[in-house]
Amino acid sequence: MKVEKGIVLAGGSGSRLWPMTAVCNKQLLPIYDKPAIYYPISTLMLIGIRQILIISSPEGIQSIERMLGDGSQLGIELLYAPQYEPKGLPEAFIIGERFIGGDPVIMILGDNFFHGHAITEMLKVEPYERSKIFLYPVNDPGRYGVAELDKEGKVVSVFEKPKKPSSNLAITGFYYFDSSVAERAKRLSPSLRGELEMTDLINQYDADKLLSAVVFGRGYVWFDIGTPQALNNASNYVEVIQSRQGVTIGSLEEVAWRMGFISGEQLKYLITSIPHCKYKNYLESIL
Ligand code: G1P
Repeated sequence: MKVEKGIVLAGGSGSRLWPMTAVCNKQLLPIYDKPAIYYPISTLMLIGIRQILIISSPEGIQSIERMLGDGSQLGIELLYAPQYEPKGLPEAFIIGERFIGGDPVIMILGDNFFHGHAITEMLKVEPYERSKIFLYPVNDPGRYGVAELDKEGKVVSVFEKPKKPSSNLAITGFYYFDSSVAERAKRLSPSLRGELEMTDLINQYDADKLLSAVVFGRGYVWFDIGTPQALNNASNYVEVIQSRQGVTIGSLEEVAWRMGFISGEQLKYLITSIPHCKYKNYLESIL
């Protein structure tokens, strides 16, 4: 069954980014010249997902909805649901249970940034039978969920922010789960820090032999903008590529048009509502 639904979890308190997050949702902070959430939404759109549920704090939702509306201008459907307290990533599947219905779903975290020439190939989730996690080799795995694989690439263990990581493979915030995910999330108990843990959910799938892992090679970029340094690195990366190549990364209007979700006429109309700026000039230039 093809995956048609995606969840963007734009939650978290953003405590490591304070005071930037004192009154601003983390995913609205800029990665160079766009709000951070533009990037994960564009990633979902690039892999053909048009039904998207955005989960955030009630205040976060207000701002994001004001910015993106119902998505119809982009030829997609954006729905919103509140997460009243950050009770852990798997809670998104419980909040989104009705949206998920009986379907498989992709979840991407609102503070994750993916880029690379063949990124859409990399993030392909076929074969659909197996749920999937996507792993990225990093220097500082202890900051993330970490997976250990055996020689055949099967998942041996996953741990959340381990003190002594068993590998350098960080679990990125892009997950593909089958239709049982909401039921499974409901069976989880909170960890010692009082949250439902993604690693516990992943372990359930692994125990039932329903999990596989995809490992990013060189030539791909993944950032999680959880710290000021990571936010700055992601911004610098976007600035370098954009100014060198004259492209724009993560433009929702461009992606909607290139994916055929909207026509050239519709893009032209969208451009009229953008104030004079480089972003507008760029969109005019691609038409
Ligand atoms: C969360 C997950 C972690 C994952 C990371 C990816 O951590 O709990 O497993 O590696 O996202 O961005 P957080 O950024 O909420 O600390």
